[in-house]
Amino acid sequence: MELADKIVLLTGGSAGIGREIVRQLQAKGARVTLTGRNPERLAAMREEGFETIEADFSSAAGVDALLKKWGSKDIDILLNNAGQLVDHDFREGDPDADAADDCIYTNLNAPIRLISALMPQLRARPEAAIVNITSGLAIAPAARTPIYCATKSGLRFYTLGLREQLKDSNIRVIEALPPVVDTQMNDGKPTKKMPPEECARQIVVAIAQDQDEANIGLTKALRIAESISPALARSMTLRF
Ligand SMILES: NC(=O)c1ccc[n+]([C@@H]2O[C@H](COP(=O)([O-])OP(=O)(O)OC[C@H]3O[C@@H](n4cnc5c(N)ncnc54)[C@H](OP(=O)(O)O)[C@@H]3O)[C@@H](O)[C@H]2O)c1
Repeated sequence: MELADKIVLLTGGSAGIGREIVRQLQAKGARVTLTGRNPERLAAMREEGFETIEADFSSAAGVDALLKKWGSKDIDILLNNAGQLVDHDFREGDPDADAADDCIYTNLNAPIRLISALMPQLRARPEAAIVNITSGLAIAPAARTPIYCATKSGLRFYTLGLREQLKDSNIRVIEALPPVVDTQMNDGKPTKKMPPEECARQIVVAIAQDQDEANIGLTKALRIAESISPALARSMTLRF
């Protein structure tokens, strides 16, 4: 897909991987609107020349508020990137059920609701793309974050089904599976982390080259392990 002049809506573009994706898409001539919750971060992105919309995706009302602001505007690329990670570990006390609900809505329900609402506008374009950011943990889970892993594997399966449904349409369905990336999501974690610029670069390449899946960094190794033995893949992730 040629990216110049494409109209893009990216969720969660005020920080981390999303912020790098929008910068790289803008450099290629795309017209990007991004969302976020934090007003100061959104103001900083407007300084960089982006359109921004403040939206919280932890409920249907937040998603609908964004959709109302978007209205019937054209859209070529919907990039579902906003996401949050919650620990949910009974070995360390009783997990917060409300935090789990917020995570489930933000990571899984919100992308599905956005896709459903924007499908008519995407169908009306000459070429369009839906890009869902899942995770290496959509392939094999980590023990400490089962809610996060459930949302990401849920979004992965949704994406696989949607791609099959839309295979003869104008809409390309792309999944990006990042490894551990150096963003606020992993602050203080003493593991090897990919720089967000490099993760974003590989996602933008996947969109430009119409790839179905971007298995990024160590996720590639996890995919190979899983193809040999799902138990082997799980042994690589469950200890985290
Ligand atoms: N970092 C990793 O290691 C990693 C690995 C695999 C997959 N991923 C996935 O990649 C995506 C981006 O992650 P990241 O590491 O860049 O995260 P990040 O730095 O924490 O940024 C998350 C972005 O999503 C927004 N966001 C979070 N919760 C939201 C909510 N409830 N409603 C609306 N917006 C919300 C944030 O807005 P605010 O600025 O307002 O907070 C921010 O713009 C996520 O889907 C994540 O699951 C990340």
